[in-house]
Amino acid sequence: MPLIGSRTKPVAFIDLAALHAPLQDRLDAAWRDILAGSAFIGGSAVDDFEQRWADYCGTDHCVGVANGTDALELVLSALHIGPGDEVLVPANTFVATAEAVLTVGATPVFVDVDPGSLLITAPAIAAAITPATRAVMVVHLYGQIPDMDSITAVADAAGIEVVEDAAQAHGATFDGRRAGSFGAAATFSFYPGKNLGALGDGGAVVTNDRGLADEVRTLANHGRGTHLLHTHRGRNSRLDGLQAAALSIKLEHLDRWNAHRRLVHQQYVERLGSSVSLLQTLPGSEPVHHLEVIRVDERDRLREELAGLGIQTGIHYALPCHKHPAFAEFDVRPLPVAEAVANRQLSLPMHPTLTAEAVKAVADTVLALL
Ligand SMILES: Cc1ncc(COP(=O)(O)O)c(C=O)c1O
Repeated sequence: MPLIGSRTKPVAFIDLAALHAPLQDRLDAAWRDILAGSAFIGGSAVDDFEQRWADYCGTDHCVGVANGTDALELVLSALHIGPGDEVLVPANTFVATAEAVLTVGATPVFVDVDPGSLLITAPAIAAAITPATRAVMVVHLYGQIPDMDSITAVADAAGIEVVEDAAQAHGATFDGRRAGSFGAAATFSFYPGKNLGALGDGGAVVTNDRGLADEVRTLANHGRGTHLLHTHRGRNSRLDGLQAAALSIKLEHLDRWNAHRRLVHQQYVERLGSSVSLLQTLPGSEPVHHLEVIRVDERDRLREELAGLGIQTGIHYALPCHKHPAFAEFDVRPLPVAEAVANRQLSLPMHPTLTAEAVKAVADTVLALL
């Protein structure tokens, strides 16, 4: 065990510089090509990445957009969800999931999560469905896909759409199928810290529904039906060529990076599993460990002491969505699991360049400070 009071080697929560360093030459070359061709918006780098990402997810279509929040909003708009409609949202998620529901004028209805995985469940969805429910946002939070068989069965029986928020689950599988291939549509964020991250903002919608893909593309491009004719009330949300080029290069490494994340998780399980509560892996699900979330008492003290020893951590999330002032009007009923977990969650360093030595130091330090 490390000597408490002495600093271990600092451990970063995430290390993008280390991730990108071996790719520097290829990124430089790709960016030079884009500069030479001036294809900054649209163009072959975007088309190419969209094709690669659809293929990777196992879907027919991909539309690159400006970020993951826009992707969610565009899907809801393309599904014609709006005022008077209810959309189910897990209470334990990043606020963007609920934000998108509000932006289209619909009502977010928050539902509780499973205590083991902290993900939405089919029974919770079934219990929250009303005649006004149009869709459920299934968030593959922390990199894990919940039981899509039972969720899809409940949604189909009720005639509501399943929208996957796969912002944290690039490459995760359930029953061997990749995130993005289950719902009416799925959305991704390529925020730099995601498992597949751009060098700035980026996002995508994937779907097997050609009509939906076309509508998302139209809405994201000022509602253009043809170049000079605006058939829809749209907006501007496009993926840049520079970002698409970087994403195509990084995609070649995604599976290897996810495999490393799995090893890191395994090491955390071995060292911490008997002492702290880790996220449970669900049957049939193969997570990509976007975040390594543990649950501990005195979370804030532990976080501060780890910081003092040079170990960075994060909190995902400090409050369930419905407890944020911005969503206060939708705080209608108790959601005990999400509410109880919020002040106990702590995210440990997790990234594809984390060494076994660093994971050991983090885990041993956590144990010593408990
Ligand atoms: C679960 C979830 N949904 C949506 C988003 C929004 O993505 P972006 O930041 O690209 O808008 C994020 C990103 O943080 C996320 O984690």
